[in-house]
Amino acid sequence: MDKLVIQGGRPLRGSVKVAGSKNAVLPVLAASLLTDEPLVIPNAPRVADVRSMLKVLESLGSRVVQHSDGAIEVCSASVPRSEATWEHVRRMRGSVTVLGPLLARMHRACVSLPGGCVIGVRPIDLHMKGMRALGAKVDLDGGDVRAEAFSGLVGSEMYLGGAQGPTVLGTANVMMAATLAKGRTVIHGAACEPEVVDLGDCLIKMGAKIHGLGSPRIEIEGVKRLHGAEHAVIPDRIEAGTFVIAGALTGGAVRVENCRPDHLMILLERLSEAGLAYDHGEDWIATVPYDTRAYGPRPTDVTTLPYPAFPTDLQAQWMALMTTARGMSLISETIFPDRYMHVAELMRMGANIRRQGASAIVMGPAQLTGAQVMASDLRASAALVLAGLVARGQTEVHRVYHIDRGYERIEERLKEIGASIVRVDENVSIDTSEPDEEPASSAPLRDKVIVPATPLPSGA
Ligand code: EPZ
Repeated sequence: MDKLVIQGGRPLRGSVKVAGSKNAVLPVLAASLLTDEPLVIPNAPRVADVRSMLKVLESLGSRVVQHSDGAIEVCSASVPRSEATWEHVRRMRGSVTVLGPLLARMHRACVSLPGGCVIGVRPIDLHMKGMRALGAKVDLDGGDVRAEAFSGLVGSEMYLGGAQGPTVLGTANVMMAATLAKGRTVIHGAACEPEVVDLGDCLIKMGAKIHGLGSPRIEIEGVKRLHGAEHAVIPDRIEAGTFVIAGALTGGAVRVENCRPDHLMILLERLSEAGLAYDHGEDWIATVPYDTRAYGPRPTDVTTLPYPAFPTDLQAQWMALMTTARGMSLISETIFPDRYMHVAELMRMGANIRRQGASAIVMGPAQLTGAQVMASDLRASAALVLAGLVARGQTEVHRVYHIDRGYERIEERLKEIGASIVRVDENVSIDTSEPDEEPASSAPLRDKVIVPATPLPSGA
């Protein structure tokens, strides 16, 4: 196992290109099961979750080709097996999205229930509800979801929202199943996330008839068959947001390229509220540098909600930023109320955070100090790396495989924008501190001067 060793206190500076979206590519890969022709994704991110999904598809009989330029081609001309086993599904929840395509194409499917994870129970009752609404018989059998519709799926009108709002992968699953169902399907309470829109755009390229993408009401007219296509997924908005927060947290000048600012409006809005300046163009966002000894962000509350509100996948990273704010910030997590594995680790670095049920109160500014910390879920791990970038001294983030699930070569790309970060084997002890270096953040924090924020993108 590897760990990341980070020497904090340096403002980041430089450009970083955002990879294709992990959360868009996973259901798009599952969509390859809907046709016997090849589906090509030229910009799939090279992350562990994609590799896990490819293993699931190969276990079902799909042929997977990974080209040297990173492009992935999946062809499910024959799908002799319709059973996604626990061995594969347990690794990655996104593999549950093979359920809809298998049911639509094979009229039967058996998918092991994805396990819970550190951010919550992760039920799939809404996925099952959607399949039943399309006429499938769905049962739980020894930890597996067994579904069958031997005379094929039949379109219907359904409400797919749950107690915590819409389901992203549930909407993806039902939308894919409905593309080959007989007649019309209307999904009310559908997820509006860009990743769902991107999947819909891919399905339309494959010959599906879909309207209402990006709205809570999606209409699908079933067709007899779908054909192959080539689809480049959208840039990863969570990776982009993570790098933007890294720039803002270290007072650096980071230009995040190949991203979609219009997918990150809420983050830009909260950065402005925090008095942190940035610039942006059509496909880039750049943080404006400031001296972290003299300035700091204004305390700014966030509540995670479905898109276009603040994404739960940036909650941990925002919390890391708010540890340096001068005052109290309230973070409320409505999607995964237990998604606070990062709190204990941030507190070990000197952060002052108090959990209150599904909320956390962050008191700043805290002078974070480097520590040995343990990664847990993907985004909590990213938050620990961010904290290490601004902490005084050396931080070691253990169990880096969590980060590798969703971030491509994270240490190489952070190093390219000035971070002092190396990946070493867990058992190697290393001291990356530079002698008599005056850590930037050791000077006393003077009164904060608010850095003028750039106005929000107009009409982006
Ligand atoms: C997707 O998970 C993302 N994963 C998650 O990103 C993201 O946090 C989440 O959407 C919310 O935006 C992928 O796309 C692979 P949900 P998903 O169904 O679809 C409840 C990351 O870090 N629910 O939208 O599984 C659920 O418990 C990951 O990249 C039910 O009750 O999440 C939650 O409270 C983490 N029953 C809420 O709905 C169901 O059948 C939203 O979950 C399904 C979900």
